Amino acid sequence: MKEGTPASVGPRFLIGERVTLRRMEERDLPHVRRWYGDAELRRLTGIIEPLTEEGVREWHAAVVADRRRLWYTIDLDEGDRAIGEAGLLRIVPAWRTADMSVIIGEPDARGKGYGSEVGRLLLDFAFSYLGLHRIAIGVVGFHEEALRFWRGLGFRQEGVQRDGYLVDGGFHDFVMMSILESDWRELSAGQEKEEA
Ligand SMILES: CC(C)(COP(=O)(O)OP(=O)(O)OC[C@H]1O[C@@H](n2cnc3c(N)ncnc32)[C@H](O)[C@@H]1OP(=O)(O)O)[C@@H](O)C(=O)NCCC(=O)NCCS
Repeated sequence: MKEGTPASVGPRFLIGERVTLRRMEERDLPHVRRWYGDAELRRLTGIIEPLTEEGVREWHAAVVADRRRLWYTIDLDEGDRAIGEAGLLRIVPAWRTADMSVIIGEPDARGKGYGSEVGRLLLDFAFSYLGLHRIAIGVVGFHEEALRFWRGLGFRQEGVQRDGYLVDGGFHDFVMMSILESDWRELSAGQEKEEA
């Protein structure tokens, strides 16, 4: 990815086996608002407040204008419905780094492997298409399912922000994780061998 390339010119779709990542549009905003309206989801992800109708439009405008972010709605092919959002953010082409996020907003769609499929699509896109070298994520320390999810994708813990997260009046650790292109290539080669 060349320095100065607007991240916002990335592909409109990333197509998986059961899910499709589609660039987020205004028609998705009622879903986003509903997902962020769930207090438990906010506690697990560090989203501070629910969004108002105006707030979600402002948020989306900022996402679209952000040249360092590529943001997608996760469509589940079965039933053709939006189940969450995911993407790359804080993309720094000069350093070949980015952060990543996956949120399965619909509770009934969690724990079914969709998040893992989304994660693999984004990592493949980041390393093979954008030519990035490192992808990072910060995870709320008490969120065991998420820690397991990111480990399953090949992310490794690289440090802990002690008391980096304050929620409901209590401080909690924030776990910093990352995956390098070489980790991803190694994992992908291993999987290909298994499948052969
Ligand atoms: C965390 C999250 C992205 C995982 O996606 P998912 O589609 O539910 O996870 P998958 O079905 O692909 O499961 C991947 C692994 O994570 C575990 N896991 C993660 N979340 C789980 C959940 N809610 N229920 C059951 N298992 C879960 C699974 O056990 C699985 O591990 P295994 O392969 O060793 O069995 C999703 O549950 C989610 O968005 N939750 C709410 C918001 C959130 O916390 N986002 C992450 C912010 S860091």
